[in-house]
Amino acid sequence: MAWITVKQARDAASIGRQVEVRGWVRTRRDSKGGFSFIELNDGSCLSNLQIIADQSLENYESVIRSLSVGSSIVATGEIKPSQGKGQATELVADAVRLIGAAPPDYPLQKKRHSFEKLREWAHLRPRTNSFGAVTRVRNQLASSVHQFFQQEGFYYVHTPIITASDCEGAGQMFRVTTLPLDNVPKRDGQVDFSRDFFHQATYLTVSGQLEAEIFACALSRCYTFGPTFRAENSNTTRHLAEFWMIEPEAAFFDLSDNMQLAEQFVKRLLADTLHHCAEDMQFFDQRIQPGLLAALELVLNKPFEHMSYTEAVEVLIRSGQSFEFPVEWGQDLQAEHERYLTEQHVQGPLILHDYPKTIKPFYMRCNDDDRTVAAMDVLVPHVGEIIGGSQREERLDVLQQRMEEMGLDQQEYWWYLDLRRFGSVPHSGFGLGFERAAQWITGMGNIRDCIPFPRTPGWAEF
Ligand code: 4AD
Ligand code: MG
Repeated sequence: MAWITVKQARDAASIGRQVEVRGWVRTRRDSKGGFSFIELNDGSCLSNLQIIADQSLENYESVIRSLSVGSSIVATGEIKPSQGKGQATELVADAVRLIGAAPPDYPLQKKRHSFEKLREWAHLRPRTNSFGAVTRVRNQLASSVHQFFQQEGFYYVHTPIITASDCEGAGQMFRVTTLPLDNVPKRDGQVDFSRDFFHQATYLTVSGQLEAEIFACALSRCYTFGPTFRAENSNTTRHLAEFWMIEPEAAFFDLSDNMQLAEQFVKRLLADTLHHCAEDMQFFDQRIQPGLLAALELVLNKPFEHMSYTEAVEVLIRSGQSFEFPVEWGQDLQAEHERYLTEQHVQGPLILHDYPKTIKPFYMRCNDDDRTVAAMDVLVPHVGEIIGGSQREERLDVLQQRMEEMGLDQQEYWWYLDLRRFGSVPHSGFGLGFERAAQWITGMGNIRDCIPFPRTPGWAEF
C-alpha cells in the first residue's frame, strides 16, 4: 500500500486510492453515530487530513476512542470525497494503529500559546501551525536563493566559519579558543594567542564577504549562504546572535548593477514564496498580519524606490515626526527612521545609497565627494533593513588610506590588499539577512520565531 503525505492525501487526485498516512493527532472527536473524526497532521502542509474511524474497527473502543492529542498514528484506508467543508477529501480508515501515545501533559493542547512560550518548547514548536508554516517558507526561500543565483551565473562558494578578521569592523565577534579559561597563557601581560589552537586569535565569522571577494575576483560571480554570528547585545525583534546570510559578490559590477541584482533577487524570493507556499501565506495573512498578502503583491508590481542617505535625512527632518533618536547628517539611521521611510514615506521597499563614510566599514568604495561611500541598504516595511551592501574599494592606495584612517592593521589584511595589487577590478556585493527576509515575508512579529533554534543574549537552549 502506498504511504503518502497528508498534502498528497488532501489532493482530489488521490480520491479512490488505497493509502497509508502517518502523522500526529491534532484533534479527535467522537460522533454519536458510532465513529470518530481524527484530524491528522504530518507537517507536509498546513492543513490536516480528516480520518473517519468507524466503531467496526477492531481497536475502536480500546485505542481509537482514547487517542490523545499529540499521539503518533499510522492509518490505512481509502481516500474519498469529503462531505464536510474545508477539504476535498478524507480518509475512511480500515485500520488505525497507535505508534506513540502522548499523555495529557502534552503541552500543545487546544489552548493557544504565546510565541514566547513556544520558544521554550523549541522541540515541539515545529508541530504548531505557525512554526510549521515558517519552516516551509524558509525551505522555499532557501531553494529560491540557489535557483536564482544559479540562473544568474553565480557560483556557490563555502566561506569559513572560523576566521581571524573582523569584516564589519564592529568588534561584535564571538571568540573561538581552546585555551584553558581558568589558566590563560600570558606574555607581557597579554593573552598569548600564539599558544591557542590556530596560533592566533580567532572568531566566528560575522560575514563571508571578504572571502567571497577573493572568489569574485576569479570566478566573476559567486555567492555564499551560511551562518554568521554577531555578539551584539541587542535584545530586539530584529536581531539574532546567530543568523544565516546570503552574500553575492560580482566582479565588474558597480553600485547600480548591485542595486538591480538586489531588487531582482528580493522579488524572486517573494514571487516564488507566494506561488509555492500559497496556503501558508494565506495563514500568515489571516492569523499573523492582516493585509500581508495585498502588501506583498504590491511590491512585485512596482520598481523599488531609490533615495540617497542625504535625501533621506532631509525627508526625516522635514517629516515633523518626533523620533526618539535625533536625525542628523552623519549619524546612523535608527530602526524608527528606517521604518518611517519605508512604511510612511514610500510605503514599500526602499534602497538607500551613498552613506557617510564615517558610519560604514573600511571596504566600501569612496565617492568623489570624499564624505560618502558607495553603500546601499534595502529597507522594507515592518522589518527595516534586510540587505546591506556596497561597491568595494578596488583602488589600492585609496583602500590603504582608508584602513589607516580607521586604524586597521594592513598586515592582517595582506591578502585582501593583494586582490587590489594583481588585476584589480571594480566589484560589488551585498548581504541578505535570511531571517529578516523570512520575517518580512511571513509577517511574523519577532525574528526569533523565524529560525528553528534562536540564539540571543542569554538564550542558547536546544
Ligand atoms: O549590513 P550587514 O552588517 O552587512 C554585511 O555583513 C556585509 N558584509 C554584507 C555584504 O556586503 N556582503 O549585514 C547584512 C544583513 C543585514 O542587512 C541584515 O538583514 C542581516 O544581515 N543582519 C542580521 N540579521 C539578524 N540578526 C542580526 N544581528 C543581523 N545583523 C545583520
Ligand atoms: Mg547593515
